[in-house]
Amino acid sequence: MRIVKDLKKLRFLLDEARRQGKTIGFVPTMGYVHEGHLGLARLAKKEMALSVVSIYVNPAQFGPKEDFKRYPRDFKRDSSLLKKENVDILFVPSDNDVYPQGYLTYIDVEEISQGLCGAFRPGHFRGVATVVAKLLNLLGPCTMYLGAKDAQQVAVLKVLVKDLNFPVKVRVMPTVREPDGLAMSSRNVHLSAIGRREAQTLYIALKAAKKAILRGERSSATIIRMIKSIIGSQTNGKIQYIACVDVNTLKALKRLKGHILIALAVFFDKTRLIDNISVRIHESN
Ligand code: PAJ
Repeated sequence: MRIVKDLKKLRFLLDEARRQGKTIGFVPTMGYVHEGHLGLARLAKKEMALSVVSIYVNPAQFGPKEDFKRYPRDFKRDSSLLKKENVDILFVPSDNDVYPQGYLTYIDVEEISQGLCGAFRPGHFRGVATVVAKLLNLLGPCTMYLGAKDAQQVAVLKVLVKDLNFPVKVRVMPTVREPDGLAMSSRNVHLSAIGRREAQTLYIALKAAKKAILRGERSSATIIRMIKSIIGSQTNGKIQYIACVDVNTLKALKRLKGHILIALAVFFDKTRLIDNISVRIHESN
């Protein structure tokens, strides 16, 4: 695995790979690598001739009161885990290369960035779209690998790729979970012992909701009430939102139909966790 920090070097290596007709797979991350990231890297490695993982904790996607400073970082551990997966290139850009002095250009993917997490993290998806657009321009991958855990991010980035004609395919991998169901996340290290134990309830509640829908429940309000009551009765978590939306448009649904996403964000102490589950309803009524 080559660790590349320099933009010119990166461009040289990737131009060379393209000249040789190699396909390039790209996994953007903010590091503090876990099985969710490694699964994406493994797939990129398997499907593409050249696999590139980036690690960059992107300041533009954190609000002023958010956890940019507290975000966990461990480059040594990350690079050794990615090396074990035989990732070809680990790209680690500097702040100065991503946002040099005088940087003024940001990308807003409208509407779809506004609801769910976007409603509580203004500017977050603007930061995500901007950094991912820059990384796509720098790398020119054939395929970008994303995790379903960040469902709104997937929806936003799919629109970005389509609207700006990035010649890249987006591949989405299912959420990787701990044995008790908690979605893996770099932020899980910040959970207290109690928070960690209680956090498994998020997936329990999402699964219960999915089961209810598959048994015929079609009212979004009922589903939301049900999740609220499971989380409220079994944890001290503070619910930020619970929503039932269309998987692609992220528009809120009153009556559930089609391919839907149930998404939530809950605070355990200061740690904000998100999770989601999707359900396909096969009926016309
Ligand atoms: P980060 O949170 O590090 O996640 C990097 C990628 O790993 C994202 O596509 C995310 O959805 C995926 N991922 C995280 N946890 C996962 C899990 N438990 N199972 C499957 N996939 C998982 O998402 C970001 O970084 C940033 O916003 C980024 C896209 C890099 C832009 O800065």
